[in-house]
Amino acid sequence: MLRIDGLHTYCGHGHILQGVDLEVPPGRIAVVLGRNGVGKTTTLRSIIGLASPRSGRVLLGDKDVAGWPPHRIVRVGVGYVPEGRMIFPDLTVVENIQVAQRLPAKQWSMERLFTLFPSLAERRRNKGAQPSGGEQQVLAGARALVTDPKVMLLDEPSQGSSNSRNTSYYERHG
Ligand SMILES: Nc1ncnc2c1ncn2[C@@H]1O[C@H](COP(=O)(O)OP(=O)(O)OP(=O)(O)O)[C@@H](O)[C@H]1O
Ligand SMILES: [Mg+2]
Repeated sequence: MLRIDGLHTYCGHGHILQGVDLEVPPGRIAVVLGRNGVGKTTTLRSIIGLASPRSGRVLLGDKDVAGWPPHRIVRVGVGYVPEGRMIFPDLTVVENIQVAQRLPAKQWSMERLFTLFPSLAERRRNKGAQPSGGEQQVLAGARALVTDPKVMLLDEPSQGSSNSRNTSYYERHG
């Protein structure tokens, strides 16, 4: 489903990714581990198009999306939960999800998300800055799911999510 071949990405003059290979077959979970600053976030940003790989391939099915802009890569079926969540603080919980909802979701309706994540349902009219760190992490996951992705990229997904109600989705579905 997702395969990265020989990815090289620079940040400024820094040659950060020096030939990264990774394969995630359908239905599988791949975990990237490494010390701070080793390039985990840069790898995910290179897949979703927020960083431009200088060479190498990012294959989603049979499409090489390396260098495509993020909005096109999302349309091909990649959901992205960024490190640090990046919730819009002045939009409500519902509005944070709606900004990512291009069309009526085929699989992930607002109702389905609120059933899975009851902590979000309780806070649906709160501003994005008000939920706790873990609740904002769940909101970032919901915002990615509403694009109906085939592949989810989660950068530091457990950050702040120690509440069992919030983590239950990830435990059940990976
Ligand atoms: N925009 C940038 N400009 C210059 N250097 C950058 C930029 N973004 C990342 N880097 C550098 O690239 C390297 C990899 O950073 P990256 O954020 O990918 O690491 P990470 O593995 O996600 O680290 P952490 O575990 O701390 O999240 C670091 O040395 C970082 O300083
Ligand atoms: Mg990181």
